[in-house]
Amino acid sequence: ERGGYDHFMLKEIMEQPSTLRETMRGRLLEDEGSVKLGGLTGMDDELRQAKRVVILGCGTSWHSGLIGEYLLEDIARIPTEVEYASEFRYRRAVVEPETLAIAISQSGETADTLWAMREAKQQGATTLGVVNAVGGTIPRETDAGIYLHAGPEIGVASTKAFTSQVVVLTMMTIHLGRLRGTLSQSRGREIVRALRQLPEQVAEILKMDNEIRALAEQYKDSKNFLYLGRGYNFPAALEGALKLKEISYIHAEGYPAAEMKHGPIALIDENMPVVVIAPRDGVYDKVRSNIDEVKARGGCIIAVVSEDDEELAGVVEHVIRIPRTHDALTPILASIPLQLLAYHIAVLRGANVDQPRNLAKSVTVE
Ligand code: M6R
Repeated sequence: ERGGYDHFMLKEIMEQPSTLRETMRGRLLEDEGSVKLGGLTGMDDELRQAKRVVILGCGTSWHSGLIGEYLLEDIARIPTEVEYASEFRYRRAVVEPETLAIAISQSGETADTLWAMREAKQQGATTLGVVNAVGGTIPRETDAGIYLHAGPEIGVASTKAFTSQVVVLTMMTIHLGRLRGTLSQSRGREIVRALRQLPEQVAEILKMDNEIRALAEQYKDSKNFLYLGRGYNFPAALEGALKLKEISYIHAEGYPAAEMKHGPIALIDENMPVVVIAPRDGVYDKVRSNIDEVKARGGCIIAVVSEDDEELAGVVEHVIRIPRTHDALTPILASIPLQLLAYHIAVLRGANVDQPRNLAKSVTVE
């Protein structure tokens, strides 16, 4: 049932080329620069009229929600906020009329996300679900939604659901942008094309498994890790850190790279591995200077870079190369090696990766 792999987590990491294909199957309209999302049929008026979006989720689903915020504002130009479902629920949040509330949940059963969605609905929001498990409570109670079709995720650490969530949020953004006239056909086409290439590109990255295991050998005894990224890859940094801490029990923090100088840079010394996500995207030069700041304090850097990057290999300790894609999709590709790094470190430390201590796959209590 683990498909010949030692753990469900590894199986689920390795099957991402096919789960991403399933998530996109029949949904991409390349010539039109658009998408077809059956789950949103009949919602055009609400989607066109929405003045703002609020995204609700927990853990990894909150991280994909953050990428959703960047996507919806950058590409569809809709004011968007992301909230921890547990906070939104109890803080007497104001939900303005014509708000679209998107509940993201792999399981569809997370209590905080469910109740946050109910709260938004009760205040008049139109609710959408982005869920993997078919037939759960969240998809039953939302007005409409999109399934991931990534297949059951068994490992407690979410991997394939995360990458499929980001793909669904990208498709939703294309749909909204085209519907509202904020995304042109030609720009839409560029993103759809990039989406279509993703499964192949993920398969390329997965071939580096041995290389990443070797890196894990080298860093498995570290006590702390820092993960940095900017723009679309700031949430990817948070997600990389969460993967490591939940399965290997190593303390790890994710930060927007430029925030370092407001505090966390004090932590850096030669014993602190710093994972920097630095693909050739719109903020590359900015991240580049943050890398110099870390180097100047003796930090040891593992950088996730674009395949054709010639600058960073001579500056940092290790580079992990990922294929080029649309800026908005870089966090998907960058997450794959970080999933593998967390996995191998946890295995080398003898941790129970599929069932980490203190954690449950589905958190149905608040
Ligand atoms: O099923 P959900 O997506 O609602 O679950 C949300 C979180 O509990 C979940 O992402 C959790 O953080 C994972 N252990 C992360 O790997």
